[in-house]
Amino acid sequence: MNREIGSDFWLEKIPMKQHLEIPIWLKKYGNTVLTSSGRGAITLLLEQVNPTNKTVLLPEYICDSVIAPFRAHGYTCHFYEVKKDLSPNLESIMSIKNLGLFLHMGYFGFDTNSNLTSVLQELKKQSTIIVEDVTHTLFSNINRFTENDYYVASIRKWFGVPSGGLLASTKANLKEPVGINTDFASLREKALLLKGNYMKSGNEDLKKLYLQQFNDAEQLLEDMKCYQIDPLSLTLLNSLDVDYLVNKRRQNYQVLLDGLSDLNYLSTPVKDLKDDMCPIFFVVNINKDRDLIRKKLIDEKIYCPIHWPIPKQLCEQISTETKDIYYTTISIPCDQRNNIEDMKHIISVIINLEK
Ligand SMILES: Cc1ncc(COP(=O)(O)O)c(C=O)c1O
Repeated sequence: MNREIGSDFWLEKIPMKQHLEIPIWLKKYGNTVLTSSGRGAITLLLEQVNPTNKTVLLPEYICDSVIAPFRAHGYTCHFYEVKKDLSPNLESIMSIKNLGLFLHMGYFGFDTNSNLTSVLQELKKQSTIIVEDVTHTLFSNINRFTENDYYVASIRKWFGVPSGGLLASTKANLKEPVGINTDFASLREKALLLKGNYMKSGNEDLKKLYLQQFNDAEQLLEDMKCYQIDPLSLTLLNSLDVDYLVNKRRQNYQVLLDGLSDLNYLSTPVKDLKDDMCPIFFVVNINKDRDLIRKKLIDEKIYCPIHWPIPKQLCEQISTETKDIYYTTISIPCDQRNNIEDMKHIISVIINLEK
């Protein structure tokens, strides 16, 4: 069995029996429609809302695939600052008036956006449509703001599924997307199975192939269209052991938190793991050569993604505080594939890198 920590998920086998209902754990967001991707869910949202004008205020700390559907729909995008502790800068939100839409999110599994109550109330008075991106907080039990009109998420970031996005609302009825992106879903299915084979066999020839397939599949999302989730992904969502996922991630996270707390070159902006929070990654700021540290971790087969590269659209206007987040953070894996021994291995590699 191959040992690596992080990187793409994989699949070992395809379930025999299909389960095509929406799983109960996704129904807590209200009326729910499952799409093939997060950006597809945003596209579906934009196809059915009627804002006072086509402007949106988005966080400066964001993935470019969230901005893209707004631009494709002709929206003017404004951005608000995100502070070092990953909370939104309220003044920078209130400096922009008459917004059609406002999007906010908690980062890495935490309610880092919990300071928004009064701002959301103010935006509601101006008839702004409020959208929460729950990609990172999908499994955290957070009391969501009553001001939220819609929820969007990329579900496929949490486990090995070919496709998965969510649009939900406790207030509105939702349109269903038409058709399945079979090219995307079947290419990702092939890549996931091939990676499953690689993880079992260690056959390095397979690696180049599945990496290319994952990459090619991402390119297929550039059309910014919305599709339904595919049946295999829906079946896999129905077989997910949510408690196992949440407990494993919390346990792994706590081990990293305890083991990495005394280091000088690295710190986490989210200090404790409150009850009911489920982390997507253990995010850290690195105050020496971030890219070199990341490379050294890759040499040990510990793959830490960067959330996110600075979106092209944002390079010019980004605030110093948010820019610092982009330049210093890496995301350490703590997911359900890993156990405490894996986390201890990460800790010992990171401690050795300090020397
Ligand atoms: C917070 C967040 N929302 C939405 C998306 C878009 O999801 P997808 O890649 O499934 O389109 C991403 C992508 O990374 C994301 O990070």
